[in-house]
Amino acid sequence: MVKNEFPKDFLWGGAIACSQADGGYREGGKGISTQDCRFFDPNWDEKTIYERAYFSEMSTAGLKKAIEDEGNINYPLRRGIDFYHKYPQDISLLKELGLKVFRTSISWSRIFPNGDDILPNDEGIKYYRDLFGKLKENDIKIFATIVHYDIPVNLVLKYGGWKNRKTIDFYLKYVKVLFENFGDIVDYWLPFNEINAARFGTWDGACLIKGEEENYDQSIYQCVHHQFIASAKVIELSKKMLKKPMIGAMIARFCSYPATCKPEDVLQSIHDEQYSNYFYLDVMARGEYPKYMDRFFEKMGVNIQFAEGDKELLKNNTADFVSFSYYSSQVSTIDQSWSKTCGNLVAEANLNPYLKTNEIGWTIDGIGLRIVLNQLYDRYQLPLFIAENGLGTFEKLEEGNTIHDDYRISYFEEHFKAMKEAITDGIDLIGYTAWGIIDIVSCGPLTMDKRYGVIYVDYDNCGNGTGNRYKKDSFYWYKKVIETNGENL
Ligand code: BG6
Repeated sequence: MVKNEFPKDFLWGGAIACSQADGGYREGGKGISTQDCRFFDPNWDEKTIYERAYFSEMSTAGLKKAIEDEGNINYPLRRGIDFYHKYPQDISLLKELGLKVFRTSISWSRIFPNGDDILPNDEGIKYYRDLFGKLKENDIKIFATIVHYDIPVNLVLKYGGWKNRKTIDFYLKYVKVLFENFGDIVDYWLPFNEINAARFGTWDGACLIKGEEENYDQSIYQCVHHQFIASAKVIELSKKMLKKPMIGAMIARFCSYPATCKPEDVLQSIHDEQYSNYFYLDVMARGEYPKYMDRFFEKMGVNIQFAEGDKELLKNNTADFVSFSYYSSQVSTIDQSWSKTCGNLVAEANLNPYLKTNEIGWTIDGIGLRIVLNQLYDRYQLPLFIAENGLGTFEKLEEGNTIHDDYRISYFEEHFKAMKEAITDGIDLIGYTAWGIIDIVSCGPLTMDKRYGVIYVDYDNCGNGTGNRYKKDSFYWYKKVIETNGENL
């Protein structure tokens, strides 16, 4: 009989990224990262904040100013939630929550402050040894992202970042240090967060300054190609250096249903899926560039430069598991007048009239998660890991120092039920890390007041506050789910 339950060893977890959580800017020998350079003006109104979240890219002048602005506090990703100093108490809370796995990223600029340094920074290595040691002491598995958007800014200034193949060598040198030091303690690795992000947020994903690119599309895809090669080389290295390598491929999953059963809309949906999602996973999980991309590339005037051996490298080094972020879904149509909303990384998404949206405008679609789990498993037949999912919204600390976040509980419930159903559909889903398990600085708007956590952090958009952590109602609810392995869902 088919069992409707989570596997016994299912990895219930939570996720953050170093640039959004750590702070400790320039402490312990850390160099400046590309994410340290993103400016936020506390006088911007909400409309400006959200417009900038989607459209603002780095400018040459903005980057220059950021590097000179050492002491300026209006760079929220320099302060995060001070996880760098507060991680012992945060891990105690995560232990109390019962987490089985914790996803965070490693800051490249803490290990190699400039990216091209001859020797790694011992203090940076020690920090991660302590942090990872603390997680293991508490029986929490580690899911480490090697690059979550941030790279040492020096690599951009001196070499052009991902546009330059040399960056692959610097990256590999960094990964070798990680494998040497943490190869036996980290359980799951992701070479890149959301490798398709470059197409949507160029500074985050590719560390490119749009205004400086002669052929913008060409530069984006050449950067992505170098990231594919870097990922394959991580896999190649993992086979030599790790006892039980588990290296994943991750995308931001943009699920896009046909808006109608009109053949043109169905075809549009196929094209949207290929262009935004499958291209990236096809390269990393199947090991080759899919033929369908030739038409897209031709239309954009893109001609990717392959070096000798690239094709074989990709073919021989495919991912061990497939991972993705999933927040909402959208629809595909050729109807230009279709109603719009927004979503993760996209300012304009076609709205699904059958779904509700959250306060920011992102649709809420639990069944969509079951759909993408089925689609990805059908296509790749590899274990799946949901690396990000959650509800970001505005919250104010309530009486009794808590948040009654029944809306988050119902979002989780809907998505957890969908996961359980997908497992019953036969999908090999190994884990789930709720995004921003503890409130962190939001990546798009750069604010604190868009919160995802089951733990509230008392900082405002300007970094004012005690920094104290408080449990929300969803903390107790999620704890129960983990304790019972989702039995009552
Ligand atoms: C993902 C990123 O795309 O979306 C995270 O990997 C980010 O870094 C998350 O935080 C949610 O986006 P935002 O803008 O609400 O923080």
